[in-house]
Amino acid sequence: MKTPARHTVTAALPYANGPLHIGHIAGAYLPADIYVRNLRQRGKEVLFICGSDEHGAAITMRAMKEGTTPQAIVDKYHALMGQAFKDFGIHFDIYDRTSSELHRETSQGFFLKLLENGAFSVQEEQQYFDEEAKQFLADRYIMGTCPKCGNTDAYGDQCEKCGSALSPKDLIEPRSTLSGSKPVLKSTKHWYLKMDEAQQWVEQWMNTGVLDGAQHHDPKEWKASVLGQCNSWLKDGLRPRAMTRDLDWGVPVPLEGAEGKVLYVWLDAPIGYISATKRWAQEHNTDWERWWLSRDSGSEAGMTKEDEPRLVHFIGKDNIVFHAIIFPILLKLHGGYVLPQNVPANEFLNLEGRKISTSRNWAVWLHEYIQRWPDRQDELRYCLATIIPEQKDSEFTWKDFQEKNNSELVSIVGNFVQRVFVLSHKYYEGKAPAAGEKVDMDVALWSSVHGSVEEVAQHIDDFRLRDALSSAMNVARAGNKYLSDNEPWKLEKTDPERTRTILANSLNVAAVLSIVLEPFLPHTTAKLRRMLGIGTLPWDDAFRSDLIGAGQELGKPEHLFKPITDAEIQPEVERLHAAESPAGFQPAGPAEATGLKPVGQSNPNIAFDDFAKLDLRVGTITAAEKVPKADKLLKLTIDLGETTPRTVVSGIAMHYEPEQLPGQQVVLVANLEPRKMRGVESQGMVLMAEDASGKLVFVQPKEMVGPGGEVR
Ligand code: MF3
Ligand code: ZN
Repeated sequence: MKTPARHTVTAALPYANGPLHIGHIAGAYLPADIYVRNLRQRGKEVLFICGSDEHGAAITMRAMKEGTTPQAIVDKYHALMGQAFKDFGIHFDIYDRTSSELHRETSQGFFLKLLENGAFSVQEEQQYFDEEAKQFLADRYIMGTCPKCGNTDAYGDQCEKCGSALSPKDLIEPRSTLSGSKPVLKSTKHWYLKMDEAQQWVEQWMNTGVLDGAQHHDPKEWKASVLGQCNSWLKDGLRPRAMTRDLDWGVPVPLEGAEGKVLYVWLDAPIGYISATKRWAQEHNTDWERWWLSRDSGSEAGMTKEDEPRLVHFIGKDNIVFHAIIFPILLKLHGGYVLPQNVPANEFLNLEGRKISTSRNWAVWLHEYIQRWPDRQDELRYCLATIIPEQKDSEFTWKDFQEKNNSELVSIVGNFVQRVFVLSHKYYEGKAPAAGEKVDMDVALWSSVHGSVEEVAQHIDDFRLRDALSSAMNVARAGNKYLSDNEPWKLEKTDPERTRTILANSLNVAAVLSIVLEPFLPHTTAKLRRMLGIGTLPWDDAFRSDLIGAGQELGKPEHLFKPITDAEIQPEVERLHAAESPAGFQPAGPAEATGLKPVGQSNPNIAFDDFAKLDLRVGTITAAEKVPKADKLLKLTIDLGETTPRTVVSGIAMHYEPEQLPGQQVVLVANLEPRKMRGVESQGMVLMAEDASGKLVFVQPKEMVGPGGEVR
């Protein structure tokens, strides 16, 4: 579909419960920033919105851990994150916060409008209450034993061990994480969003792009992973979902008889995008409506069909259903709003072979990076842009960061620009030479350069930012090749005329580079523009070859990038390991496991007979595939030498790619009662070993063992 003129681009509001790390940046904020910068270059009107998500259990739990108030937590992290974004060159039009008065008004108004439109059903129900803490318990405040796998530290909404989605009442021996006491069931009332009634139109809207008879988006532009996750949710059937919570931190439910209740954080937070727009509009003396309202409602404001804004949400994969299903339902039931045209979600970034973990301090924190590597923002932006987890999880290592700086930024971009400037100063006293007649080599250069420019824009439109960056780098590669092929430093003596043309072309390639690299490396391109003596140029100028006219005064040759030495990198790796604290700060949420339990603590001794009941066998994996809608689960086919191979569902998807598995030998608990997980019958359990870092590996025989070999 053709790109409209006005884009409302949001980046997930990060919880103000901890600093930002490189996983957040690579997953949502850098991709959004690159996308927005390119839209602006192409003359589109863009509003780029973000802010801190300051409500929900994520905040109150953190306050508890740090022994302070939720307000103190959000104040601290809101300031820290806002500054880090700024320093890193991620330029939102507004970085707002959901604790503001305007947001309270906006989200309460939204809730009341939904109520008026019949979006809710009120349900009275029994929920866990902590009598010591005198408070109803959010799902994450309850832990207990997983009914599926026996993990004693399962959360009220999910078991991290086996990946099962749970509800608090499923837990065996529930306990409150507030007081440790056993919670009691107590009756309470909540407002449920009738999501079930939206099933049909959501399915159609998402998969065909058609809503109320009009084409809203082209589903082919959506990522398969996003459609896949949503469709498997839809397949299970949408169910009513509570939009209120019994909590004392959040936006109060604006109704009588709802004292002590707040809006569900996933209702209030996305509305934060709208309140942020309102605040921005107030500060700029303009209206917010044109960034959000659909043509039907906007027609009063003189809006035509073409004026409708294009709403795009950049998020990580854990936010998909909230942005692609729940928020659209809220917007539609409220009425008057556009729905998102795309929700480009990314997967997760790992660090040095492990999952990034806030609780174990296994992370590269953005604000610390900025402190230790001042003026090296673009180097990190570059490295992260090359590993955006677009299709699957990817990995950051300090070695790779060094490598990419040295062999790509320094050797390709830096080297090209350096050579062009040194020669221009040497031969022409820093004034751009005039180009003479073009020969074949020059024509080939420009066709390669302009071909790459074309590709950059195409890839960005397709949300393939890694490919876009690689095409942009091809412009510098073409420039380097042109210099090496033509060797102006040798030619100058014999053919000064031709040398002038070569350097004129090269300077113009540098000018094109200052345009195509801008979305990725804004600090560097600003420097490059100063050296070239030009201002910010629009995207279409990247298709020209005459941006630097004869006689143009050039700046001094400066190094755009410096090599990074082993001596600079090594301390980073050491720091990471030294700062790692297995028992360190406590989990920011259930996504974090809690370290190793001491031997014997929760597993008392067993009799030999109990052990003998286990039938442990060696088998060979013959096939492996992902289980839809379950990020952690793989479906394995395991040959034990029986007539039919076993199907086993295992929670190892975060640790192994399916392609790595066929051929691996594993140890299977072969006489475990079969059980259904996500609709698949699992016939046994694979033994795994996990260390305190959360690294999970198969328990395997050291040498090949025949199929079905017994483990004793
Ligand atoms: N705070 C959430 C997270 O970090 C994201 C909220 S996005 C919004 O996962 F849409 F709700 F704002
Ligand atoms: Zn479990």
